[in-house]
Amino acid sequence: MVFCTLKGRRSLPSQKKADMECVVQGIIETQHVEALEILLQGLCGVQRERLRIHEICLKNGPNLGLVASEVRLLCDLEQTEPSWTVRHIGGAMRGAGAEQISVLVRTMVESKVSKNVLRMFYTLGYKLDHELLRVGFSFQFNRGAQITVTVSSVNKMLKLHATDEAVPVTPGIQMVEVTAPASAENYTEVAAAVSSFCEYLAPLLHLSKPGVSTGVVPTAAAAAASLMSDGGGTTL
Ligand SMILES: *[C@@H]1O[C@H](CO)[C@@H](O)[C@H](O)[C@H]1NC(C)=O
Repeated sequence: MVFCTLKGRRSLPSQKKADMECVVQGIIETQHVEALEILLQGLCGVQRERLRIHEICLKNGPNLGLVASEVRLLCDLEQTEPSWTVRHIGGAMRGAGAEQISVLVRTMVESKVSKNVLRMFYTLGYKLDHELLRVGFSFQFNRGAQITVTVSSVNKMLKLHATDEAVPVTPGIQMVEVTAPASAENYTEVAAAVSSFCEYLAPLLHLSKPGVSTGVVPTAAAAAASLMSDGGGTTL
C-alpha cells in the first residue's frame, strides 16, 4: 500500500491514533435536524461543536505494481487555527463475526500533516478525485466508547478549492455519522456501545453500515414534533 511506504518520511505525521473505527451512517431531512440536535444534547450532556470541513479526496491508480490507494485530506475551517489531517480508510472487517454486527468495523489511520501535504501527494502521483465541504455540527462524548456523532450537509465546490462557493449535493438532506475509535482487542465492545446508542436515535433516523442505503424513517416527523414540543427532556 502506497500509504505505508510514506510513513518514514519527515513530512508525514507524527501521532497515530486508534487504528480501527466502528462506523454507522444515516440521513435525515434538514427540517428535523433541530430535533435531532435537541435529542443529542439531552443524551450526551455536552455542547455541540460547529464544523466546516474541507475534504479533499485523492486517489492513486493501480500502477507500477502498486494497488490503488485513496486518502482524504481534511481541514476544519471552524477551528481558530485550521490544520490538515490525512485519513486513510482501509478495508472493512470481513467474516462471519463482522456480518453479524450492525456496525462496520474498518481500519483507519489518521495523522496531522503540514500545509504542503497536497503538493506532496501530487508529487507522489495522487490525483484529485473530488472535494467536498461538510457544514454542520458534532457531539463527542463517552458512552461505553468514545463516540462522535456528526451531522452535516455535504456541499460540492463550483471552483477548485473555492470553499466559499459551495452548493449542497443533496438539498434538504443531511448526513449523520456515528463513529468510535477501536482496536483489534476491543472492537466488539465498541461496536456494541455504538449500536446501543443508535437505538435512541431510531425514531428520527435509521443508522446502518456505510454503503447500505437506507432512506429517511417514516416516524421522523412525529418524533421530531414531540421532541420540539417537550424540549427533549422526557425522551429517555
Ligand atoms: C478501544 O481501543 C482504542 C485504541 O486503543 C481506544 O482509543 C478506545 O478508547 C478503546 N475503547 C474502549 C471502549 O475501550
